[in-house]
Amino acid sequence: MSLVSVVERASEMFAKCFGVPPLWKAAAPGRVNLIGEHTDYNEGFVLPMAIERFTVLVANRNSKREVTLHSVTTGETATFSLRTKVEQGTPSWSNYVRGVIAGFQERGIKVGGFNAVIDSTVPFGGGVSSSAALEVAAATLLEEMVGKSLDPIEKALLCQRAEHQFAGVPCGIMDQFTSVLARENHALMLDCRSRTATPVPMTDPSVTVLVVNSNVRHRLVDGVYASRRQQCETAAKVLKVRALRDATLKDLAAARRTIDPVVFRRARHVITENERTIQAAQAIGRRNWSHVGSLMYASHASLRDDYEVSCPELDAIVKVAQEISEEDGMIGCRMTGAGFGGCAVGLVRTKTAKAIARRFEDGYEAMTGNMPSIFASRPAGGARVIS
Ligand code: GLA
Repeated sequence: MSLVSVVERASEMFAKCFGVPPLWKAAAPGRVNLIGEHTDYNEGFVLPMAIERFTVLVANRNSKREVTLHSVTTGETATFSLRTKVEQGTPSWSNYVRGVIAGFQERGIKVGGFNAVIDSTVPFGGGVSSSAALEVAAATLLEEMVGKSLDPIEKALLCQRAEHQFAGVPCGIMDQFTSVLARENHALMLDCRSRTATPVPMTDPSVTVLVVNSNVRHRLVDGVYASRRQQCETAAKVLKVRALRDATLKDLAAARRTIDPVVFRRARHVITENERTIQAAQAIGRRNWSHVGSLMYASHASLRDDYEVSCPELDAIVKVAQEISEEDGMIGCRMTGAGFGGCAVGLVRTKTAKAIARRFEDGYEAMTGNMPSIFASRPAGGARVIS
């Protein structure tokens, strides 16, 4: 479904719910991370791109000092007051918007009462940042409503804070940054320490990105995410560096006797993943796809064995990929996002993309009994106001 169609559908729903057409419309994309997983909160490197899947908010002012949100996806409505500081509430998805409004309030920006409809084509809970897309779409809508644009980095950080404080997930900065800053036909090489984004052209028409959704989400994900983050902080302390970004494999080897073996493996993943990400950005620049592919497979193995955030379903997808040769069009594949379900990302030759998608369906079904959902995406542009 195209962005234009989602905006139309949301606008029709808005007229149905509130009896008038919407005045403001904003959209923000989900993302898929090509490589650089669990490195962002270690002040390292990530290489994501936005996908052609968007969350859309359409809105109009109301005469009350309150917000009413209606979600097309869940059919639920949330109403809350703006008379006091916005707090957490239900349904849980409303917290992403509540958190963003609270961020504007904290900056002294007055938000007036409004009604909004939310619609989305970003798979929910699929590891392609449906939550960041909602936060960033809400922030983009609010900027338009209040007539004030935030600095893009500040906007991404405001959305990240909403996720930390209102959804309770201590995420890094990758998802919100990508949804705000993405450029069409480019991946973004993000340095999560300096917060600089370097666009990496992905214009080679012979290569296609496939997003393969395992359609499973293991409940472990949030708790494990926080514990991995802690293990990384422990490793940085033992290695006496500010963040794992600053550690080398040599430092780690030297500390082997003093470091807990599990923490050792976590750190090894982060250190090697940063290196793979730098190499992948260079290899994409040279269109050395074969090298990009082998870095993706190595990333998956490291996430599975050292970081232990994969799951049998994601491993099954990567296994199917590894059974398809490069001559048959399969370049590389890995889990993407936090892990424990959600999506894998595959890089394939465009002319074989359809055939490979079928092989993923057949192979995954044979191994797990479930069907994956698969879509191809060009790198999309970031958040925008729709006029
Ligand atoms: C989630 C978080 C990101 C990042 C990834 C893992 O998507 O929101 O900040 O840490 O997991 O790379």
